[in-house]
Amino acid sequence: MLTSYRAKGQVYHGCLWVLKRLAAIVGAGQTRFGDHPDLSVKELFAEAYREALGSVDKGLDAKKIKALYVGTLGVGGYQIGNVSAALADHVGLRDVAAFRVENACASSSFALLSAVQGILSSQYDVVLVAGVEKMRDMSSDRAKYWLGVSGDTEYERLAGMTFAGHYAIMATRYMHEHSVDKKYLSMIAVKNHYNGSLNPKAQFQKAISLEEALKAPSLAYPLNLYDACPTSDGASVLIVVKAELAKKFTDTPVYVTGFGAGSDTLALHDREDLTGLRATRMAADQAYQLARIKSGDIDFAEVHDCFTIAEIMAYEDLGFAKRGKGWLLADDGSTKLSGRIPVNPSGGLKAKGHPIGATGAAQTYEIFHQLRGTADNPSRQVKGAEMGLSHNVGGSGATATVFIYQR
Ligand SMILES: CC(C)(COP(=O)(O)OP(=O)(O)OC[C@H]1O[C@@H](n2cnc3c(N)ncnc32)[C@H](O)[C@@H]1OP(=O)(O)O)[C@@H](O)C(=O)NCCC(=O)NCCS
Repeated sequence: MLTSYRAKGQVYHGCLWVLKRLAAIVGAGQTRFGDHPDLSVKELFAEAYREALGSVDKGLDAKKIKALYVGTLGVGGYQIGNVSAALADHVGLRDVAAFRVENACASSSFALLSAVQGILSSQYDVVLVAGVEKMRDMSSDRAKYWLGVSGDTEYERLAGMTFAGHYAIMATRYMHEHSVDKKYLSMIAVKNHYNGSLNPKAQFQKAISLEEALKAPSLAYPLNLYDACPTSDGASVLIVVKAELAKKFTDTPVYVTGFGAGSDTLALHDREDLTGLRATRMAADQAYQLARIKSGDIDFAEVHDCFTIAEIMAYEDLGFAKRGKGWLLADDGSTKLSGRIPVNPSGGLKAKGHPIGATGAAQTYEIFHQLRGTADNPSRQVKGAEMGLSHNVGGSGATATVFIYQR
């Protein structure tokens, strides 16, 4: 009989270690997130692409790239059509199959998922994943309108619902059901702003106090300005290759060892539960099963904190805390950079910024550097991390992805 046990994603069957390597990331690039009035979508993409290509330690001839998967919502509705082909053309990629993937705020993590599937199908050996978005050159009202269409249109957006409104409803219900004070939401903002203050690519590089977070102007009760992510411009790019080829490009690849996708109703009023996201739970179950690990094996995570309540719900939906107890991780420091399981070392959507289409791939960019020990600032390097997780939500929770990565 075979004896088997699990440790850090490696399954020991008698005498054979089997590490699930589904694909490998060998390069990554990201623009700073924030205001880029002088850069077009193409130029943002090109900047992240150049960094990604330059980050491949042993070099990569761009002619080897055979597919480009671009995640973008196209906020504002006036961006270029056929965007993936246009971006490929802009940087001189002539021999690629170009795809656009759109799942609202989770667009580029679904682009990564499609890319990994493309590699697993043996169709491609080397592909590019990108996320791009420009949101800052339109009015706040127009941005809110465009974000609103990622939720339910008929009953929510046309009735005046904003995204802050969606998450305010979830926060109110969570605080009511679990008797939780608003200050625990603000603690998430304080942690993520601190992490953002150490990240040169973050939109907000300023730490805030709990008092400042609590006193910020109200958006939609109980959420205020510091409970929200901002609107942002930005791009992110990943170079993803077949796992067996990874060492040709670098001695320190980061492997994708699990992934999953989940979904739920668009409208909040159709959901059984407003204190967590079913889509996240579905995606996490699949990813853990594929990687043959448990949530307790994860060393650190980048999670979707579009509003502070979303990070607390993610702790529970990903299995880092029991249902109704996620807020305790905000209180006891477990998810700080120096904590038991650091969450959002990049600053998260809250402080790093949230250029919708670019967010998913940017989460992977952060994990790539954290796992290789190459975070640009030693003070924000997660010590000794071997296994990371990224979690990206589309809209108010109608779609979600979870990825597991290992050194
Ligand atoms: C919160 C929000 C309404 C603020 O928009 P706004 O009022 O147009 O804000 P502005 O961009 O004009 O910025 C005004 C000030 O607030 C600051 N600010 C803006 N958003 C901020 C945020 N989320 N956190 C902290 N500060 C913020 C700006 O830096 C600026 O500060 P300054 O005056 O010192 O320069 C907007 O960022 C928003 O809609 N965020 C949510 C986006 C969203 O829903 N995304 C999808 C999630 S699923």
